[in-house]
Parts: sequence; structure tokens; C-alpha cells
Amino acid sequence: MKINLIVLSLATLILFNISCKDATKLTKDVKTEKTLFPSEEISLDNETKIDALIAEMTLEEKAGMLHGSSKFATEGVERLGIPKMNMTDGPLGIREEISKDSWAPAGWDNDFATYYPAAGGVAATWNPELSYKFGNSVGQEARARDKDVLLSPAINIIRTPLGGRTYEYFTEDPFLNKKLAVPFIVGIQDNDVMACVKHFAVNNQETNRDFVDVNTDERTLREIYLPAFKASVQEANAYSVMGAYNKFRGDFLCENDYMQNKILRDEWGFRGIVISDWSAVHSTVKTLVNGLDIEMGTRKPANEFFLADKLIAAVKDGEISEEEIDEHIRRILRVLFQVKAIDGTDRTEGSLATEEHYKDAYDIAEESIVLLKNEKNLLPLQLEGINSIAVIGNNATKKNALGGYGAGVKTKREVTPLDGLKNRLPENIKINYAEGYLERYSKNDNDQKIEVTLNTPTTITELDPEKLKEALEAAKKSDLAIIFAGSNRDYETEASDRKDLSLPFGQEELIQKVLAVNPKTIVVMIGGAPFDLNTIKEKSSSLIWSWFNGSEGGNALADVILGKVNPSGKLPWTMPKRIEDSPAHATNSFPGDESVTYEEGIMVGYRWFDTKNIEPLYPFGFGLSYTDFEFSNISTNKDSYSEDEDIQINLTIKNTGIHDGKEVAQVYVSHPGSSIEKAAKELKGFKKVFIKSGATQDAIISIPVKELAYYQVSTKKWVVEKGTYILKIGNSSRNILGEVSIKIN
Ligand code: BGC
Repeated sequence: MKINLIVLSLATLILFNISCKDATKLTKDVKTEKTLFPSEEISLDNETKIDALIAEMTLEEKAGMLHGSSKFATEGVERLGIPKMNMTDGPLGIREEISKDSWAPAGWDNDFATYYPAAGGVAATWNPELSYKFGNSVGQEARARDKDVLLSPAINIIRTPLGGRTYEYFTEDPFLNKKLAVPFIVGIQDNDVMACVKHFAVNNQETNRDFVDVNTDERTLREIYLPAFKASVQEANAYSVMGAYNKFRGDFLCENDYMQNKILRDEWGFRGIVISDWSAVHSTVKTLVNGLDIEMGTRKPANEFFLADKLIAAVKDGEISEEEIDEHIRRILRVLFQVKAIDGTDRTEGSLATEEHYKDAYDIAEESIVLLKNEKNLLPLQLEGINSIAVIGNNATKKNALGGYGAGVKTKREVTPLDGLKNRLPENIKINYAEGYLERYSKNDNDQKIEVTLNTPTTITELDPEKLKEALEAAKKSDLAIIFAGSNRDYETEASDRKDLSLPFGQEELIQKVLAVNPKTIVVMIGGAPFDLNTIKEKSSSLIWSWFNGSEGGNALADVILGKVNPSGKLPWTMPKRIEDSPAHATNSFPGDESVTYEEGIMVGYRWFDTKNIEPLYPFGFGLSYTDFEFSNISTNKDSYSEDEDIQINLTIKNTGIHDGKEVAQVYVSHPGSSIEKAAKELKGFKKVFIKSGATQDAIISIPVKELAYYQVSTKKWVVEKGTYILKIGNSSRNILGEVSIKIN
């Protein structure tokens, strides 16, 4: 970015010439873990420059930096060399350029980007290195589009399987969440662009999201909903955070003193900026005083934003001091320096939609696919004797890059499942494609595509007789069938939650009928959230779960089906048998109305299922492989530990099958003797390892004892109880292969 410094006063100019701290250098040491930008690293040179800049600014110029002047940018102060702050969505890749004052696409022809796997898929890799790779890759794309802020990652906890944004979020588990969020953010920020971690916080439903008042008890807030945000600030040093739409304990999150000032800044030491979600600001003085820095998306002309003319008037009327305004400007300038938007001679230029980035998308996709069932070993497909394959289902050709408001990506490459098979199958194998089911919605009051819908549109579940006939004929005349079913980005979307877990568009009937005419049928589900797969699990011998899986999703899927890739994805959430089994629904505390209280408390996801002994359809952490692994020699380096130590778990993993493959060793911790309510088990460590067929590998998983702490509300402290803990090591939350007891002294 060209910075025009010429008009600065001489003194300021000299200050600017002092070389700025190299922010990138600070990040190179550790890619996936630990502290990267501790707050003390903010250069003092910049602080002096910042003071000099603020001294030159008028109140009007300051206000311009505090609110959107177009859909995705704030004003800069050109005469002082302060650029506009350019922002872009989002979690699945860089969004196409939007018009200045409306949501209509700007119509550029050079804004095609890489479509990366949605967060559900990233989480299913259980691989923090891939999370870094994603962040780094998409960070480069953001820079190539000259952006300063990437509105990503979205890290809200999946509280209910019905949540419309489940596919956009990582997981139901706070530990997995933070282990993926941290490297993702570091990856983005390694490219001189700010990550904007969203949506802060307890923003776990779309129904009534604009006003619902969420209540959680303090321990639940700290142990479930905040850990990934805290790690984003303290370990990844995220430069910006997005304030959520809803209320928390009576106050909108964008004007919530407790969340934005007390927790985020005072407790966690956050020195970056808080940007509002689009149209999430409701006041002028309150929002600023309570910690927000930038108002975006308000549906009014720029001067009518809460932080525009009204703010200038409030200062003039003495309702808020100019010093308070300066503090927000200081924060904004600080992060602009940090990403070299000001004074940055060697800022990352970035690159867009390159082969390398498509390869990054592929690498994530291939590790995200979850093998749910393979009873007759139909998979990986053996092609001898196979001359024809029926490929059935609207999802075989459905594209999923666009849609979902901020999560849409305009891309030139989206390999569909059918394309993937065509790319990977030998030419002599005939593909008989049949659409099978149609994506159809019935018209009703909630079905209008207004800006924020309240309910998922009702789907038509009767199959089209012609389509069904075609599908059954294709299945009958082919040596085997593959059905691509599930959901899509129209059905799962921001701004609405699903009504229930049922598969839309009559797919259940279709799958059963195809299975009846050709039992050699593989069922592949594509989606971002749990569905009711009870019948399908029972009737089909082979079941795969894939995601909205990016530009290369179809190739990765074909490679898994054909065995070039051995699946290693593990579910990042629990798939319940019935929605009533899920904690938010069992406690009758979803979606609430004006307010919602999270009655299940800390018992979110598998914590609930395991503590209450409820059998899920597929448990958290579950995923099969084409090979088998054996865990042995499970031990710890010591029998007892003090609070400042790390527990080192050693184990040996043997690949006993005929395929090379990756396995995820997962460590869950139980504390049966606890004096307080604890979940039956909690994930506290994991490691993904690649092991060749027949080979054996030792793995070490380290868990800081501090990870075992619970949040003690009375003292406001994290407390590690003394006593005996049981470490349960397995390859899913329900398949524990060994246990070790340890003592904490
Ligand atoms: C979403 C955000 C998104 C923003 C801008 C909002 O509706 O909640 O995640 O970044 O729009 O598109």
C-alpha cells in the first residue's frame, strides 16, 4: 500500500523513518503453538508515531476511522498517510468484491479465489498443521486482494446440531477448538493481514440472533465458550475480534462492558481492536465506552452510523471525551502498523487462486473425510470386474462455494464429486449418472430470501417419480452405485437454524430404494452438521462423511473412495440418535425466545452424552480407516505431578493392516473423585500420526497439568484439584484403548 507521508509535519516524518519492528519475524519460530505476538512486542517506535498522528487528526477524521464508510472498509486519513482499513469475509476463502453501498457483487473479473474446506472439515482433520496451512494460504489471498482484515476464523462452539452455522465453526469441544484456532490465526497474520476472530462470544444460534439474550453460568462461560477466544488473544495474538449480534446477560455483546473491557482487555491483555458484526451496534457512547472500536454494516448511510455524526455530537455535548476517542484510534493505528498498512515497505503481496493454494485446499480436504462404516469392505473400491458405476444424487454435481452470506467464495475451481470420479476413474469404466432427488422447497411465509431468514425453508420430501425411476435404473444396470446425499449451502446457512435433523428432499427414501435394487451401494453424505442417519447406518454397509470441502473436494473424495488416500478424518462433534438426546434440546433450552439460558451448563456435546450415558449414533472423535491400529505401552513419565509440570503420555501405535494410514490418538481426562461437577471425560490432548502398513511408532502427548483446571467462580481462579485423575487414551471419545491413573499433588 502506498502511504502518502509528504504532508506530515517534519517531526512526524522523522519519526516515521525510524524502522518499524518486523512483525513477521516474530511469528516464524513456532507455527502451530504458543505465544507469537505477546503484547509487549508492540513496538514503542510505533507508539510515538501514533501519538504524533493522533495529535494531527480532527475529530471528524477520527470518527471516520471508527465506522464503515462502505460495506467492507472504514475511512482513512489520506493527508496523514493513514489508509482505509479494508476488510473481507470470510471463513471459506476470500469473498468476492461487494459493492460499496450494497450487498450486490461489485462485478470484478479478477476476484476469483480459492475455495477452502469449511471449518467442520478442517476440524475433522484434527491436524493443527493443516489449520496453519489454511490460515497462511488464505492470508496470502487476502493480501493479493489488498485487504487488511480477514473476517475469520469463526470459532463459536457448536451447542446444537441444528445451528445454521455449524459448518462454519470448528467443533463442540473447547480444547480442539483452541488447538485449531491458534495456528489458523498465526497463519493468517504471518501475511501482514489481521485475523478477525468471530463472533465474540456465546453466539451459538441463528434463531433470534439479533436480539436474543444469552445467559450462561460463569463456569460454563469460562470452560466452554471462551477458551478458544482466550487462546486466540494470548497465544496467537489475534489483532482483531468481531463482536457478536446477540446479547449476553442483558447487554448486546458489542456494548458489553464485562466481555469487551473486563475479560477481553483487562483480564486477557488484548491490545487489538473489536470490530462489530454487521449491524450489531445499537448505541454511540455505550458501545465505545464498553469496548467496541469499529462499527460495521449498519443499514444506513455512513454519516448516520452510531459512530459517525452522532459521535461527533456526543463529543461536542460532553457525553464522551475526545481522550476516550483517541484511545480507540490508538488501537486502530497500532494494528495498522502491525500489519504494515502504515509504514510498511516489505508488506506481503500475496497471491490468489494459485495451484499451490488449490493444493493446500486439497491437503486439508483429503484428511477431513470421515469413514463412518465399511462393513463389507466395499471400500476402498476394487475396480477389477467393475465396468460401470451408478453415480446418484443431486450432491454429485451440486456446487457449494457460494452461499451463506459472509461464507461464500467466488471461485473458478470447484471439483464436484462427479467431476472427481471422472478425473480419477479409468476411462473404460462407464459412469451412469442420475440426479435422484431434487433440491426443492415449498413456498411458505418463512421462505422468502430476505436478508435474515428466521427458519430454514421447508423442503419438499416427495421424490420426483421420473428422477427416482432414472436413479433405480442406473443402480440396477451398474456393477455398483455411489449415492451423494446430505445437505448443501442453501439448506445449511447463516441466519437460520434447521428445524430438525431429517435429511431433506426425500433422500432417505431414495437411498433405501437404491440399496434395495443394488446392495453394492456406497453412501456418501456431504454436509456440515449432524443429520439423522439412523436408518441409513442400519441399511447400508458403507458410509462416508464429507464436507463442504473446497475447490478440490471432489478429487479428495474420489481419492478416498478409490483408496489413493486412506481416510483419517474424525468427527469434531457428536452425531446424536435423536435431537432430544442433545444437551440443549434435552434441557429444553433451545432456542428460547427473547432470552435463552444454557441449562446444560458445561455438559456440551460429548460431555453430556458420556456423563449421562446416552449412546450417540456416532461419537465425537470417531472415524474409521482402511487399516487397523493397535495402541500399546500406554504409560506416563511419572506417577504424580505438581501444578507446574507437564504430563507426558507415551504410547506405541502399530499399523496392523495392509494400508498406510494416519491415526489420531486422543487423550480424555476423568476426575471421578472431584468435589465439584465434572464431565465424565474431557479431551485434553491429541496427536495425529502417519504410520506405514506393518510399522510401529512411538508417540508422545504432553498435557500441562494446568489444562486440568476448572474455573472456580468464588475465587475467579483456575484451580487444579489435587487427587487421582484417569487418562483415557483412545481413537474416539467412546473407544478407549487404555487408561493410566496419575496423581496431582
Ligand atoms: C456475519 C459475519 C460476517 C459479516 C459480514 C455477518 O452477517 O455474522 O460472520 O463476517 O456478516 O459479511
